[in-house]
Amino acid sequence: MTGRVRIKRLLEQGLVGTEVTVAGWARSVRGGKGVAFIALNDGSSLNGIQVVVDAALPRFEEIARLGTGSSLAVTGILTASPAAGQRFELAALSVTIYQNASPDYPLQKKRHSFEYLRTIAHLRPRTNTFGALFRVRSFLAQAVHRFFAQRGFLYVQTPIITANDCEGAGELFRVTTLDPVSPPLVKGKADFSADFFGVPTGLTVSGQLEGELFALAFSDIYTFGPTFRAENSNTPRHAAEFWMIEPEMAFADLAADAALAEEFLRYLCCQLLEECPEELEFFNRQVDTGLIERIRTVAETKFQLMEYGDAIRELQKATVPFVYPVAWGVDLQTEHERYLTEQVVNGPLFVINYPKEIKAFYMRQNDDGRTVAAMDLLVPKVGELIGGSQREERLELLERRMAEMGIATEGLWWYLDSRRWGSCPHAGFGLGFERLIIYLTGMENIRDVIPFPRTPRHAEF
Ligand code: 4AD
Ligand code: MG
Repeated sequence: MTGRVRIKRLLEQGLVGTEVTVAGWARSVRGGKGVAFIALNDGSSLNGIQVVVDAALPRFEEIARLGTGSSLAVTGILTASPAAGQRFELAALSVTIYQNASPDYPLQKKRHSFEYLRTIAHLRPRTNTFGALFRVRSFLAQAVHRFFAQRGFLYVQTPIITANDCEGAGELFRVTTLDPVSPPLVKGKADFSADFFGVPTGLTVSGQLEGELFALAFSDIYTFGPTFRAENSNTPRHAAEFWMIEPEMAFADLAADAALAEEFLRYLCCQLLEECPEELEFFNRQVDTGLIERIRTVAETKFQLMEYGDAIRELQKATVPFVYPVAWGVDLQTEHERYLTEQVVNGPLFVINYPKEIKAFYMRQNDDGRTVAAMDLLVPKVGELIGGSQREERLELLERRMAEMGIATEGLWWYLDSRRWGSCPHAGFGLGFERLIIYLTGMENIRDVIPFPRTPRHAEF
């Protein structure tokens, strides 16, 4: 539509007396004597604009009876509003009705639970909470690219279909064109040489291995893309499809890796505080009253760092009961991670140098023979937000570790090649984008921070 202005811009400019056109969806329509009020929202900001329709306008009866959710355009004069809680309103000169929504529109005035709204994921973007949420999500995605662009990192798009299981956890979703009922068989097993790619393939669990190849050519790179894991864990922090940001730096060690992660998270906090105050205040008011304070603290204070061994000692000293027992060698569970970050340091915490048995094959082996140069960044409310490491750049040690772990080298010959010609110390990490949004909005469930969540038994829309 020509000349249409977004409501956010209209409210920012506040040019009282000018004629403007806006378009959007009615959040409510109230018909009064000789006048009707329409709360119109176009998704550009939390606040919509109140449209005042005089009974003298054509089709007034029809306009005054429009259903919630109706789509319309209004041309009118911006005026100072006499009503409390809003600075401006729009005195309509003409109204175009695109569609009058029927009265069974599910988003009527009352407040709905997040659980209910998940069942209408096709409509929830039109609510205040999800409007604010997805504006924050979009803003953060753009801030991620800005951060790396400002630091000269190359943005690389790693493949979604892959033949490698980077994390070695066997959580690959299979990609195949073989007939699921009667695939061609050799010795009783599916014959993948007859499959589309000629080898078993799946959806990527991480772009890291390919990212490393690019880091060994461009020095500093990052990926930001969808990631898939068929882990059957029904928790508020796990999704089968999530987005991950994975930077990788050549000529960098674990300390440089942690420094980048800290600078990155701090940048995102500062940007959000500066650019999305309206959304943050909304979440602070409606969802998590400590939110803004927490983000400010993260933006201002240095992150703590703890050796895995010390973390285990802290957990063993704890007086709270844990479901999972603690001893040197165990992987940290969310309850442990949250205790450390919430009770012990009360802020972001790097835990470094984990036992090699609980970490992936590619992590650099420390001289003690039992730990690897891994780092997890733990944050309050979420637990693990970032997982990263310095990589094993020494070919012999890498091959030995793969053999110990039973990881076949054939499919990874290209990865091993990177350790043959111009190998160098390098490090990187992965940040789960949805967990970041949980952390920065106070929302509790990963299903509520991604447009259309994919979790066990849920992929309808
Ligand atoms: O710790 P992870 O498994 O590390 C990697 O994938 C490395 N290849 C990253 C790297 O070094 N380049 O995953 C990284 C992060 C986690 O810390 C978590 O925030 C997020 O990805 N994550 C998930 N988020 C949502 N749902 C899931 N199922 C997730 N699994 C991991
Ligand atoms: Mg991890």
